[in-house]
Amino acid sequence: MIYLKTPEEINQMRAANTLVSMTLGEVAKWIQPGVTTHRLDTIAREFILDNGGRPACLGYNGFPGTLCIEVNETVVHGFPSNYTLREGDIIGTDCVVELNGFNGDSCYTFTVGEIDPKVMALCKTTKEALYVGIDACKEGERLGNVSNAIQTYCEKRGYSVVREMCGHGIGRHMHESPDVPNYGRRGTGPLIKNGMCLAIEPMINLGSRNIIIESDGWTCRTRDRKPSAHYEHTVAIVDGKTEILTTFDYIEEVLKDRFI
Ligand code: MF3
Ligand code: CO
Repeated sequence: MIYLKTPEEINQMRAANTLVSMTLGEVAKWIQPGVTTHRLDTIAREFILDNGGRPACLGYNGFPGTLCIEVNETVVHGFPSNYTLREGDIIGTDCVVELNGFNGDSCYTFTVGEIDPKVMALCKTTKEALYVGIDACKEGERLGNVSNAIQTYCEKRGYSVVREMCGHGIGRHMHESPDVPNYGRRGTGPLIKNGMCLAIEPMINLGSRNIIIESDGWTCRTRDRKPSAHYEHTVAIVDGKTEILTTFDYIEEVLKDRFI
């Protein structure tokens, strides 16, 4: 069942999503060659706790981090580790924060130092696809329009769309109905209604769309080990308009002219 939020609940969603956005802004300060992904995870966890939130991924079905860490070929759900970032890496940090019983979810893919222009273009297209998807997310239309907009935008540019993982409804639970796939047909799927809160999150590959789950049961990587990018915003449909509850502003203030 799709749970439509009341205006008071949307207010709580705004607060949780502001906190997750600020958390990724803190993480941004530490992205550089030589930092371990454990360190990034600690920064995020301490910031969330200091601000009265709960790191919602930590312990979720046994997940061991505050952040999902997505280096290069990792698509989603990688563990924080003693891996040290290197020049040329890309790293997605996906974070969910619970604040006063409501969840905020966002992901940003950072570039570390100088990047292969092909990988840079992948990140840029994936980020653009997120906003293309959000633009297609309109009250009174079908969710398949969002899926189709993302798929079309990325495939036209020669990238492939991961099928097995998708965006989702969000609220009191991190994952609620409906699923928000990054591929699909216009005019299909649930109607977009006032009160819906959705996490939209394109996961886009440079090579083929095929993925595998590593033996840890979580880490999802591209089968061909080519890079994958991932950006995510949580949105709410309020009074017929789509409001983006998360923001990359905190991140991009830190990155200054270094963001894509
Ligand atoms: N944004 C991720 C998702 O929607 C967060 C996953 S948290 C985890 O799948 F605990 F499941 F890893
Ligand atoms: Co999500």
